[in-house]
Amino acid sequence: MKGKQVLLTGGTGGLGLGVTPAVLAQGAEVTIPYRNPKDVERLKGILSPADFARIKFIPANLEDEASVDKLITRMRQVDVLIHLVGGFSMGKTHEYSFYDWKREFELNLNTTFLACKYSLKSMLEHGYGRIVTVSSRAGVEPAGQLAAYSAAKAGVVALTKAIADETKNTNITANVVLPSVIDTPTNRQEMGAENADKWVKPESIAQVICFLASEGAQDVRGTAIPVYGNV
Ligand SMILES: NC(=O)c1ccc[n+]([C@@H]2O[C@H](COP(=O)([O-])OP(=O)(O)OC[C@H]3O[C@@H](n4cnc5c(N)ncnc54)[C@H](OP(=O)(O)O)[C@@H]3O)[C@@H](O)[C@H]2O)c1
Repeated sequence: MKGKQVLLTGGTGGLGLGVTPAVLAQGAEVTIPYRNPKDVERLKGILSPADFARIKFIPANLEDEASVDKLITRMRQVDVLIHLVGGFSMGKTHEYSFYDWKREFELNLNTTFLACKYSLKSMLEHGYGRIVTVSSRAGVEPAGQLAAYSAAKAGVVALTKAIADETKNTNITANVVLPSVIDTPTNRQEMGAENADKWVKPESIAQVICFLASEGAQDVRGTAIPVYGNV
């Protein structure tokens, strides 16, 4: 990824705390869209001042098409898209609100569509691209009380595979990773840290993402890679 323009969405989030340093270590030019300045401060706390200074932070809402269009216009060129944005809420289907159902699709699937759509325009123009999206184990093994999240993340797998098919015979690839439970600050806070040693580490997922995002992964397309750790 040396010298490549990388759009790293969700780079300030829990998984981003592992992925962002790994992408910087590859020598990439990193742009991170953000909404919450507090998250930027948290990321600053784990990076060296020199690494932090290399990141271009741009305020953007990935659920808004005009905002994504503007973000990518400001970047001028996207060689690599690493789309970490997503999140989940739980609830039994008969009690789950339609509002929350739509939120899950907005946050997980619609953001992926918009980030891919506008990145692909740039990639097709320049003849090079690596797209790495993030689904979840629930996207291929749907779980009770996670119907909306499972369905939206299954959509992320389908979207990524469709893009991989669309970009055959080009130097553009698309692949998706499937984490199980990740060892993030939020999960430790919400689930307790007792089992955290079994959860997959952000740094470990980062290695898989960095490979898929590299020039060397040119013949890997349309894969959905489980990164489950020991859960
Ligand atoms: N954590 C897990 O155990 C787990 C397991 C399987 C899969 N995953 C997937 O892994 C990915 C990363 O998860 P995570 O734990 O790192 O989540 P996270 O800590 O909530 O981070 C998500 C990041 O995305 C950003 N974001 C959300 N909506 C946005 C929007 N509309 N526009 C711009 N930025 C937005 C958040 O910014 P704000 O702070 O502004 O909201 C945050 O920086 C997600 O796709 C998640 O579904 C996570």
